[in-house]
This record gives sequence, structure tokens and C-alpha cells, in this order.
Amino acid sequence: MLRLRSPAKINLFLKIISKRADGFHELASLFQAIDLFDYITIQTSDQDTFTCSNPHLPTDGSNLVIKSLNLYRQKTGISTPVSIHLDKHIPAEAGLGGGSSNAATTLWALNELFNRTATLDQLQTWSAKIGSDITFFLSHGTAYCTGRGELIQEQPPLPTQSLWIVKPPFGLPTPSVYKNLSLAAISKDDPESLLRDFYAGKPRYVNDLEIPAFQLLPQLASLKQQLNNLGCQATMSGSGTSFFCIGDLPSTFSQDYLKVHSSFINRSNSLWY
Ligand code: C5P
Repeated sequence: MLRLRSPAKINLFLKIISKRADGFHELASLFQAIDLFDYITIQTSDQDTFTCSNPHLPTDGSNLVIKSLNLYRQKTGISTPVSIHLDKHIPAEAGLGGGSSNAATTLWALNELFNRTATLDQLQTWSAKIGSDITFFLSHGTAYCTGRGELIQEQPPLPTQSLWIVKPPFGLPTPSVYKNLSLAAISKDDPESLLRDFYAGKPRYVNDLEIPAFQLLPQLASLKQQLNNLGCQATMSGSGTSFFCIGDLPSTFSQDYLKVHSSFINRSNSLWY
């Protein structure tokens, strides 16, 4: 039996480059894994079962865990039944990549269970078929991602940072945020310069999805303002609705939001998080 941690991510910067003919957006983003985890337990069994601690999440073929299982079977020909349990802690519709992380963790776990039948390269290539952010979670925890998000360039670990995740009780579906994006309204920062600046110790936290998300939910703009007024450097992660705040969050800050203290994490070669 294996029990693996399935980490969340934040986007230290996220630049949208263009809209593609296939409806996806070309982006350039520095992804970072953080120590906020779901847990996946997996073992061989006499029949397939999949259970989840959150009764609101589907456990049918629409769940990325099942998509990963089907993908792994299709690619490797291995059909041994498995029991999988997903223990959820990463909030949904938060821009923290919970579902994508679960998918990557499932692929890694299956491959451990079945004697590393596939290479890491293969897992990464296969993962892009079922979602844009899954490939990142098969990196070592810090990666510059382009294309739909699935083209990863591994980056050295960044200095450990203390941060807070702040998540309001309402969420946003990723497709609606992208749909509401106006390319004319986005900042002109060059993503390669943003990347260089991060490694030169001059981070600039930019997320082009903030404007379309704030238009859909104006409360998000107020939340960012409120956090900034408290001296926090608050940036939305992915398509929202969570924010990451580098540094300290005053203990007096509102009880109406989920607040999680976290930090950057990276994994070692051949080991999981
Ligand atoms: O690939 P994933 O399932 O995470 O994408 C969810 C949705 O987000 C897509 O259907 C698309 O509407 C939007 N998206 C996008 N451009 C990307 C990634 C996601 O437009 N690079």
C-alpha cells in the first residue's frame, strides 16, 4: 500500500501570451509547489474502487484520478485492479491545482506500484493529454511552464519563503475566467525578464488572470486591496479564487476566509513529495 502526498501549487507569475485556435491560451508562468497537501492511498485489490473524503466531488470517470488510472492502463497495458482513496484538503476552484496534482500523484503512485514500468518522461508526456497543469506536478517543484502550461522547464529551487494562502468561501471555474479575459487589457511584462528577476532576488508577482477574475467577482479586488493595506504582498494564484501572501498575515485578519500557512517545497530525484 502506498500513501502519497499530493501538493498544491501557486503561480509566482502568470502571463497570458495569446489565444490559440484550439481555444486554449498560450501562457508563460513560474509554478511553485507548496506544502499544502491532499493524500492519495493506493493498493492492488481484487476489484477497482475509488473513494474520496469530500462527498461533493465526483468519483466517476470525470475525476482526474480515474482519468489518470485509465490513461496509465491504456499506455502500459497493465490492468491489475486497484483501490484508491483521495483525502482532500486543497480547496477546489482556488487556482491551487488540486485536481491536477491528484492526477500527477496517481500516475506516479501507479508507476511505483507497478515497478516503474514507465519513465518520468513518459508520464510527463502522457499527463498533458488529460490537463494543462498536470505535467508541472511531475517536475521537481519549481518550473517555468509555457504552451498551455504543459511544456515545463525545470528551475532550481527558490529560497524558502514563508507564505499564507487566503481563500474566500466562493470559487471560480477556470474556463469562465479564461473566457472573460481581454488580451488588450493585460500587462506588457516580458515573462523571460520576470523569470530572470525572480532568480536575481527581485521578484515581481504578476497574474494576468486577476483582471478577468475580479470582473467576475469584484469581492476579489476588495480582498486583494484589504490584504495589501495590511502590508501583505497578495497575488491571486492561477484562475483564483485563492491569494498567496508572501510574509506574515496579521492574526487579526478576517475569520471569514480559509487561511493556511505554507512554504515552497521541492522533491528530490526519484522520490515523491
Ligand atoms: O487543461 P485544463 O483542464 O486545466 O483547462 C481547463 C480550462 O481552462 C480549459 O478548458 C480552458 O477553457 C482554460 N485554459 C485555457 N488556456 C490554458 C489552460 C486552460 O484557456 N492554457
